[in-house]
Amino acid sequence: MELKGKKGGHTHKCHLKLFKMFTDLRKGEAKSQVSSSPLLLTTPIHPREFQISVRCTMSKSGAMDLASNLGGKIDKSDVLTAVEKYEQYHEFHGGDEEERKANYTDMVNKYYDLATSFYEYGWGESFHFAHRWNGESLRESIKRHEHFLALQLGVKPGQKVLDVGCGIGGPLREIARFSNSSVTGINNNEYQITRGKELNRLAGVDKTCNFVKADFMKMPFPENTFDAVYAIEATCHAPDAYGCYKEIYRVLKPGQCFAAYEWCMTDAFDPDNAQHQKIKAEIEIGDGLPDIRLTSKCLEALKQAGFEVSII
Ligand SMILES: C[S@@+](CC[C@H](N)C(=O)[O-])C[C@H]1O[C@@H](n2cnc3c(N)ncnc32)[C@H](O)[C@@H]1O
Repeated sequence: MELKGKKGGHTHKCHLKLFKMFTDLRKGEAKSQVSSSPLLLTTPIHPREFQISVRCTMSKSGAMDLASNLGGKIDKSDVLTAVEKYEQYHEFHGGDEEERKANYTDMVNKYYDLATSFYEYGWGESFHFAHRWNGESLRESIKRHEHFLALQLGVKPGQKVLDVGCGIGGPLREIARFSNSSVTGINNNEYQITRGKELNRLAGVDKTCNFVKADFMKMPFPENTFDAVYAIEATCHAPDAYGCYKEIYRVLKPGQCFAAYEWCMTDAFDPDNAQHQKIKAEIEIGDGLPDIRLTSKCLEALKQAGFEVSII
């Protein structure tokens, strides 16, 4: 999908490859179909019952952090309380969407403080999905997905790029090296920033890439700062899609592109279907989401923010 928006007489383009999420419930497990590929993912549906059936990349440093209880800002003795507080934001434990949206910073940070080391240990430095071709490893598919995004974005050597919701910087490092650009990662999670800085240093990109700890709903950058902006499975955490896309539009230079992998539900989602609602609530609690928006709502929000869309 390609988005084109006008700003001050210039054209903004936005490429958005939307993950069309289609869900089905199995006993104790949600099955997600991502994009058009028949990829099955075991969704972590409960913070205490994480099940990830993928080949582990066994990040040694991530494993070290996990083993030495450095898995986030939360002290080991406070983990159970944090899990309980996190759960209370969600439907199964009496929470609701309004509360999650009003407290999105606390809800999302609790989720990542609890889950980050485990993600790194089990998945790698990039915290996103990618469809896999036959014979392709998880790592290869993740990198291909990142290279594809950089190519669609048309990133040129030396350009200033923004990664919105950058995790510990796996995509940031890959895209910076792939395109020889300078990437700034914005992220509101302190532990992930600390971890990302260390990994940037080890990868040798710490002179050209950096991290900024801030909320992507209120970015501390002047308007027209970046030559390109991308977001990988991060803006789904925003309490309001329009507000988030509008911020991205503001910091992007006129005529430049925004590319994203977005989480949304197809319009086949039926709010009156109890099973659909249950699956949605399981994905929300399993992934730190205040809500899951429909594809049509995301498109509407992007256009409202000023972008023109085209499908890629
Ligand atoms: C699924 S992770 C994806 C990380 C990264 N894009 C990647 O693919 O490795 C979502 C990221 O969005 C960040 N995030 C969520 N809400 C945010 C907010 N309001 N402001 C800044 N970052 C946020 C989280 O801290 C996390 O790093």
